[in-house]
Amino acid sequence: MALFLGIDVSTTATKALLIDQRGRVAATAAQEYELSTPKPLWSEQSPEDWWSGAASAVRGALQRAGVRGDAVSGIGLTGQMHGLVLLDEAGQVLRPAILWNDQRSERQCEQIRHRVGHERLVQITGNDAFAGFTAPKILWVRDNEPDVYARIAHVLLPKDYVRYRLTGEYATDRAGAGGTLLLDLSARSWSDEVLERLDILRAWLPPTSEGPEITGHVSAAAAAETGLKEGTPVVAGGGDQAAQAVGVGAVRAGIVALTLGTSGVVFTTTETPLVEPLGRIHSFPHAVPQRWHVMGVMLSAAGSLRWYRDTTSPHMSYDALLAEAESAPPGAEAVYFMPYLSGERTPHADAKLRGAFVGLTLKHERAHMTRAVLEGVAFGIRDNLELLGSVGVPAPEQVRVSGGGARSLLWRKIFADVLNTELVSVQTEEGAAYGAAILAGVGAGAWKSVEAACDEVVTTSDTVTPTAEGADVYKQVHKRFTMLYPALRPFYHHEDG
Ligand code: XUL
Repeated sequence: MALFLGIDVSTTATKALLIDQRGRVAATAAQEYELSTPKPLWSEQSPEDWWSGAASAVRGALQRAGVRGDAVSGIGLTGQMHGLVLLDEAGQVLRPAILWNDQRSERQCEQIRHRVGHERLVQITGNDAFAGFTAPKILWVRDNEPDVYARIAHVLLPKDYVRYRLTGEYATDRAGAGGTLLLDLSARSWSDEVLERLDILRAWLPPTSEGPEITGHVSAAAAAETGLKEGTPVVAGGGDQAAQAVGVGAVRAGIVALTLGTSGVVFTTTETPLVEPLGRIHSFPHAVPQRWHVMGVMLSAAGSLRWYRDTTSPHMSYDALLAEAESAPPGAEAVYFMPYLSGERTPHADAKLRGAFVGLTLKHERAHMTRAVLEGVAFGIRDNLELLGSVGVPAPEQVRVSGGGARSLLWRKIFADVLNTELVSVQTEEGAAYGAAILAGVGAGAWKSVEAACDEVVTTSDTVTPTAEGADVYKQVHKRFTMLYPALRPFYHHEDG
């Protein structure tokens, strides 16, 4: 039986995952690497680490599955979005890659809004300028490292550097290309207007392809390093959020993928590009051909719970802490938690925003505070969904939840009530790599479309339905919660602060 390989170039490790034609996972392997922070708010990695990580993870997965490279019929790539990899004419890396969570280019975001015009920028690309995105990073290099800038011949995203080493081709997927801020969202191709206004050469950018399209084949050199067979096709794949959505079957309108990792992501497929007029939500092409998606990204979701446990109750297991929280009623007797421990990206694009407990009295116990953390994160997700609703996304038919936070039944029940929607869990091991492997299978002809593949291989379980009383209580409590940001914003933005 043919196998398909998904490779996820994430921020912590490169992961390799093999699936068979029924979508069963045959093996996984991962190779971790370092992230460097040369200055506060900077975040860099070495592209060479990604490549050696990929080679070692792929060898590991083949070995664990007990197969040779010729068992693999197709490869899909996914990975961290928005990162900047710069290569010279000879394909040599010019400087460490600047990652999605690097905040150095705030000034360049202002330049972009000024040069393109904020309204026009959102109209063309579907997005506002965020420091995490690729375009402001290119301008930062121009402003700060002119010697490097002068030698740029190729601009790539992280996973596309691995693609280059694997196939010798410069190429990217359209979902990832959307995250550069240089793509015309409707046309699904590079925007000449934005490129010209920013003085970025189109020749630097690779051609773009839809997720399941073949972008090249494994080279002889890469075959020797990875154990793969020379000539194996490599499809475009997708940015990690789009590939994760494929991995959980969020490939049709009406299905929302909710990922509760350190960050919290709500993602839904759209038939046409939908844009929030101020660019407050992310709007990119999907990894599904001719589909788009909108997405809200909350920076501290399960990360809030981890911080809370580590800080207040490091001796307690999550299970014990969450069992205790069940003794507090919905609404935590008017204790609120603002889950903005790392500032926020959506719906409040506000780096100065901070976390807070509000409403504490002598009567409250830890159970209330724990419950407030779970509820505060769910309210943040509801805010994101409401913003998606404001651009025309219909109320979700089903929310498919995955990620570490989804393991808690209590949290899933809170989410079902706060969002007033059915919540199903999706069994995913490494969702993004799984999605990339599905895209590889579609590219190799194993399934006729991404939708057909997802229908066949993605399995859901553990449905949680909202309760009428719970939904009612949370409607009121959430209303109060939404008063907190406008009330505290002036405090965080005070000139002296
Ligand atoms: C998406 C985003 C993250 C990164 C890192 O907009 O910033 O998902 O891709 O995983």
